[in-house]
Amino acid sequence: MSELLLIKNASQLVTTKGYSDQPAKREKMSDLTVIENGSVLMKDGTIQAVGLLEDIEKEHAELVAQAEVIDATGKLVTPGLIDPHTHLVHAGTRENEYAMRLKGKTYMEIMNAGGGIHATTRATREASFDQLYEESKKRLDTFFEYGITTVEAKSGYGLSLEHEMKQLEVAKKLAEDHEMDIVSTFMGAHAIPMDEKENPEPFVNRVIEEMIPEVAKKKLATFNDVFCERGVFTPEQSRRILQAGKEHGLIPKIHADEIEPYGGAELAAEVGAISADHLLKASDEGIRQMAEKDVIGVLLPGTAFFLMAEYANARKMIDQGVAVALSTDANPGSSPSLSLQFIMNLGCLKMGMTPEEVLVATTINAAHAIGKAEQIGSLEVGKQADVAIFNVSNYLKLSYNYGMNHIDQVIKKGKVVVE
Ligand code: NIG
Ligand code: FE
Repeated sequence: MSELLLIKNASQLVTTKGYSDQPAKREKMSDLTVIENGSVLMKDGTIQAVGLLEDIEKEHAELVAQAEVIDATGKLVTPGLIDPHTHLVHAGTRENEYAMRLKGKTYMEIMNAGGGIHATTRATREASFDQLYEESKKRLDTFFEYGITTVEAKSGYGLSLEHEMKQLEVAKKLAEDHEMDIVSTFMGAHAIPMDEKENPEPFVNRVIEEMIPEVAKKKLATFNDVFCERGVFTPEQSRRILQAGKEHGLIPKIHADEIEPYGGAELAAEVGAISADHLLKASDEGIRQMAEKDVIGVLLPGTAFFLMAEYANARKMIDQGVAVALSTDANPGSSPSLSLQFIMNLGCLKMGMTPEEVLVATTINAAHAIGKAEQIGSLEVGKQADVAIFNVSNYLKLSYNYGMNHIDQVIKKGKVVVE
């Protein structure tokens, strides 16, 4: 028996059409298809038809007759949201650092004194596989509750072969057990271990010679990411690490120009990264090169909000032809939130994006940023049936009623996972 599900008569069904081969750029980032009174029919986890109920009924009368039905009258239906940049697997929280920052300490001062990423690394190293698994599983459940149906997950709180592998193995087990789709990124180059700060080369070499080959051999990640920032990894070290990953089949990503302009956007273009993320301080030249080389800009306004920093210039990037995606950057230090809906609010209110653009940035462009746009990111026939149903009547209200969770129901591969 086929599994059949019909969502019918949504006040608005909103999706993109036709950007599965190329991310949406410039004016295309506003190019939403809005179907008033829209319906979507799903069969065995795949989208079978999208449009008006009467048309779907004509074409698929038998399937519609057998389908389980969700009446979405008065509601908004979108593709399941995609979070293309998270630090999902970690232990511990850092509210003490938050309090310190509120009194004037900076993120980098705290990190250089052994807190920050180092604090979470200590907690993550101490945590057992099972503890990391349980804590991360809860986060995945919460992501579902906020309408997110696919996440990227980075390692980077192990900083040794053993503990980086532990994080990646947890993500792998969660990908097998949990209904959420998870795409993994190796980020051994997230920080230089505290006791090696004065002489970082041996650590860089271990990332390149030990960790990357092992991660690739065990097929534990698709992407390879590095924190390219003054006081962390230099552009030269970052280049070597990203090139080494490429030689082992890992696609480059980069934490670029977050705190200072540092050539990260330029490096992303040079190495052919799929995305450059953060970009609060990206140079005009870096933005130009990203547009030219089709590097997606994954913007993380939750981090600017939480670190009380200046926001990335999304407007300029989009106008110059960079395909922009949005993400939570979910992590315990610079963005302890799992709400991509709040990120959409910030995209509009703080980065000059339109409500149409933030939807594209959290669906099809986010799918491109993790190399999954052929399967997910839009409601189109043949794609995976990942759908979010919101308790609002139109998509403007998603970013108008801010800071709220508007989710009503969530469908993953044609099955209701939040009701
Ligand atoms: O994306 N900037 C570097 N890495 C993370 C933060 C990690 C942390 O503070 O624990 C980020 O913001
Ligand atoms: Fe990050």
